[in-house]
Amino acid sequence: APAQLLAGKKLTITAGPTREALDPVRYISNHSSGKMGFALAAEAVRLGADVTLISGPVNLPTPQGCQRVDVTSAEQMLAASLAVAEQQDIFIGCAAVADYRAAEIAPEKLKKQGDRIAIELIKNPDIIASVAEQTSNTIVVGFAAETQNIAQYARNKLTQKGLHMIAANDVSGNDIGFNANDNALSVFWHDGQHTIEQSSKQQVAAQLLALIQQHLMQ
Ligand code: PMT
Repeated sequence: APAQLLAGKKLTITAGPTREALDPVRYISNHSSGKMGFALAAEAVRLGADVTLISGPVNLPTPQGCQRVDVTSAEQMLAASLAVAEQQDIFIGCAAVADYRAAEIAPEKLKKQGDRIAIELIKNPDIIASVAEQTSNTIVVGFAAETQNIAQYARNKLTQKGLHMIAANDVSGNDIGFNANDNALSVFWHDGQHTIEQSSKQQVAAQLLALIQQHLMQ
């Protein structure tokens, strides 16, 4: 059995995409499969944590031993997150939250119109920033999906969102990141950084949890 590094700790992880309705049959979303967040949940259970997994719409079985909360939109994910955040030792935002949603959801299926139509979008709430702002004793860890200037953009998000740590992945290729079985991370916290080399999302998850334990706890 692995050392129970997270025994007795409460941990919440968000995973997967959010889905923002345009009308009763259409939505805006992204290619997140949920694999990275579900791997973190499985690994945290293995390390003895009491795990809540808040998931957008994905096609994955629930890792044994965790409590799963299914949501669809960013607003629902925010509500589910804030409902538990203050009681957590660690909150990890791995979900690919849609930055925008439709300004108005059409009540009926949109009819085919001219050759060009415009849909007005409005900004979604920032879930991880809200969690960081509204908790006092919770370690808050975000992810950053980047295609360029990874270290700089990730460090900006660490500061702007008020996080304790951020795990950046390069999402410009198909071998790691969205929907891949592998990942690789550049992890930044306020007084350090660490590279997790490419391997399975399960192994990457184990290494990220070890970093959190080593650098942010006690
Ligand atoms: O699900 P997989 O297919 O396994 O893919 C994994 C992944 C690539 C989705 C994952 O590793 C990852 O990078 N997740 C974060 C994706 C993302 O939305 O990144 P971002 O750089 O846009 O957001 C930065 C952080 O803010 C993230 O922690 C995100 O959860 C959070 N955020 C973003 C927008 C928003 N409105 N609310 C948020 O909480």
